[in-house]
Amino acid sequence: MEPWLLDILACPRCPGHPLVIRDAARRRGTALVEGTLTCSGCGTDYPVTQGIPDLLPRESHAELDKQRQVRQFDKRAGLYDFLMYTFFVPLIWGGPSRGYLTRWLITESGLAANGFALDLACGPGTFTRALAKHAKQGHAVGLDISWRMLLRGAGNARRERLTNVGWVRGDAERLPFQPHVFTAGICNNGLHQIPHRELALAGLHRSLQPGARFAGATIVRGQGDPLRRLRVMWEQFLHPEFHPPRPWELERQFQTAGFIDWQSRSRGAILLFAARRG
Ligand SMILES: C[S@@+](CC[C@H](N)C(=O)[O-])C[C@H]1O[C@@H](n2cnc3c(N)ncnc32)[C@H](O)[C@@H]1O
Ligand SMILES: [Zn+2]
Repeated sequence: MEPWLLDILACPRCPGHPLVIRDAARRRGTALVEGTLTCSGCGTDYPVTQGIPDLLPRESHAELDKQRQVRQFDKRAGLYDFLMYTFFVPLIWGGPSRGYLTRWLITESGLAANGFALDLACGPGTFTRALAKHAKQGHAVGLDISWRMLLRGAGNARRERLTNVGWVRGDAERLPFQPHVFTAGICNNGLHQIPHRELALAGLHRSLQPGARFAGATIVRGQGDPLRRLRVMWEQFLHPEFHPPRPWELERQFQTAGFIDWQSRSRGAILLFAARRG
């Protein structure tokens, strides 16, 4: 974890409160590899392991829904990237290709070459790494609740020698960032996993700079052909931690959180959307 990442972190339990290094068991150059961060407000300690700060607070650990998310996605991390874009997104959900999504997310988030980007619910970092490659003079941060997903992302970034990307374990509903740090944000296929989206969107609004754009894609209810609509309902039945919104509901949630200039388009059961932080 490089100092630039520590500078933008905040305690997830006391919004906006900075974290400091309490002990640094292992460093590599300027990066903290193993150690502990602490909040000077509430005194909570957060471990840093393999360069990734674990900012998942005990309140999130205690939630059954979050425990299910972690179990499901830790299990899927190994094959996630391959299966998602060869099978699930194109065939099951009727959504766009990975290339199309990458272009959409980068263009619609308005990320500049010196920007500071957030990838919310980043999974194995497929799009986080694309953001980092685009923002060559800037930074990209991927946040996810699944440790295994983050380890894959960090491993791939190391292999690609990306030095402007950072990873954070956290809960999208309790974002651990300082206010107004990100100039752009994305969330691909993540918002349908978040039960209290209004909390996530409020935190997102706080973490983005005024005027920053946010782009994403999510599985929605009531879109696509009848088979796909049924498939969404079946998925909800199988996985109680799956919370797809209806398109109008998502738009309203963004507006309530203070986002403006909403635009969206559907591809199968997937809604691509973009908005600007008002
Ligand atoms: C369908 S995957 C999408 C991953 C990635 N964005 C992509 O498109 O490849 C959904 C991700 O959301 C993460 N997730 C679920 N609930 C979360 C939460 N409350 N906070 C942060 N991440 C969460 C899961 O761990 C998983 O990696
Ligand atoms: Zn605190």
